[in-house]
Amino acid sequence: MMSDLVIYFSRSGENYFGGVLKNIEKGNTEVIAEYIQEFTGADLFKVEPATEYPADYMECIDVAKKEQQQDARPEIKETLERIADYDTIYIGFPNWWGTLPMPMFTQLEQLDFSGKTVKPFVTHEGSGFGSSQRDLKKICQGAEVKKGLSIPGANVYDAKDTVKAWVNE
Ligand SMILES: Cc1cc2nc3c(=O)[nH]c(=O)nc-3n(C[C@H](O)[C@H](O)[C@H](O)COP(=O)(O)O)c2cc1C
Repeated sequence: MMSDLVIYFSRSGENYFGGVLKNIEKGNTEVIAEYIQEFTGADLFKVEPATEYPADYMECIDVAKKEQQQDARPEIKETLERIADYDTIYIGFPNWWGTLPMPMFTQLEQLDFSGKTVKPFVTHEGSGFGSSQRDLKKICQGAEVKKGLSIPGANVYDAKDTVKAWVNE
């Protein structure tokens, strides 16, 4: 039977919420990924870097910026090899410097998206998707990329109804 899959990246640790630094146990994007799972029964696959990002926000910002400037493909802990058994793939991530965190490129570039339906979602601190939807369309060759869902990171716990409406679109 065909089913849904959520591929996502999310970082716990120190993060900004409306200008205030807070330490969080669960990343913002993960909260949304779990709502999607609740509404669709989707499987979850979390992309995790082999080397964890610093919990310190400012350090993390620097590491991520360098990776992006170098167009790096950081190693990931586990690689998802195939998505043939799924028809709808939700792809979720935080906006990092205007696009997806680089480990998402590492993972997504290894998958065959032809014939798939892709539904992107992002959490952010003001810049929405940035260029990530364009970048995703390049990576997910052959997929139909649907309208994305953009949620401010500080609002994820109020976004359940919004997520429900979007998954049913
Ligand atoms: C390295 C890094 C870069 C970020 N760059 C941006 C950015 O360019 N624009 C933006 O709106 N938010 C940016 N943010 C904020 C995150 O997108 C936002 O806090 C998101 O909800 C974090 O999701 P997570 O908890 O699932 O990792 C950045 C955060 C980090 C850690």
